[in-house]
Amino acid sequence: MTQQTRGCFFALEGIDGSGKSTQLALLAGALERAGYPCSTTCEPTGGPVGTLLRQVLTGQVTCDSRVVAPLFVADRLDHLLRPGDGLLATLDRGVTVVSDRYYFSSYAYQSVDLPLEWVIEANRPCAHLLRPTATLFLDVDPALALDRIARGRDHTELFETRERLERTREQYFRAFERERDRERVLILPGDRPPEELARDIWAQVLPLLPQP
Ligand code: ADP
Ligand code: TYD
Repeated sequence: MTQQTRGCFFALEGIDGSGKSTQLALLAGALERAGYPCSTTCEPTGGPVGTLLRQVLTGQVTCDSRVVAPLFVADRLDHLLRPGDGLLATLDRGVTVVSDRYYFSSYAYQSVDLPLEWVIEANRPCAHLLRPTATLFLDVDPALALDRIARGRDHTELFETRERLERTREQYFRAFERERDRERVLILPGDRPPEELARDIWAQVLPLLPQP
């Protein structure tokens, strides 16, 4: 049996409203057209802990902010290790995976309330299991992001205030600086038409892919 090369893993990051889910769909389409079988996923996942997290984010379940970070780690470990459709199992089949959020989301959002070092340590098992081929950070002004969110929805979530998004964006940059020797992070200005941003993302991703 020939050994299957592990697929590439791309994580899309950015504050809420930065355009992650829009770019996820565009990148998946480009990968498929270029001959790369591709799978898309997101965090929180639809698993048991991810479902609980969604309830926390919408305020149906309340808990201390110190509890949120380890719940994200638990959801992430399930995401990585789940047999069949887990991240590692999918990548081991040679599939390219694109995820809407991965551990930099925890670093950025949770470290507004908790020390960044603590959040990074809590996520260390996940980083050991899988680091992204590249993290694609869509950078938008928090005011613009909030504007986009407000237009598309009739409710906002726990972290969706201007001040919170501003601090979250700053925490992303602190985490990138802290992890710069271990991670490949590509920062992409997100305030431009979706197709233009998608072309830029593709130009950055293509050199990282193996021959199809
Ligand atoms: P996220 O997944 O990061 O929260 P979405 O992709 O859901 O972001 O986008 C949030 C909102 O902004 C949606 O209504 C979407 O249609 C819109 N949007 C996404 N990308 C752009 C863009 N490049 N320019 C303008 N609006 C955008
Ligand atoms: P989001 O990505 O906006 O998804 P959707 O719009 O589909 O609900 O919501 C996820 C929220 O969870 C977002 O506010 C950020 C937060 N989050 C964390 O706080 N830590 C994490 O590790 C992750 C993955 C998400």
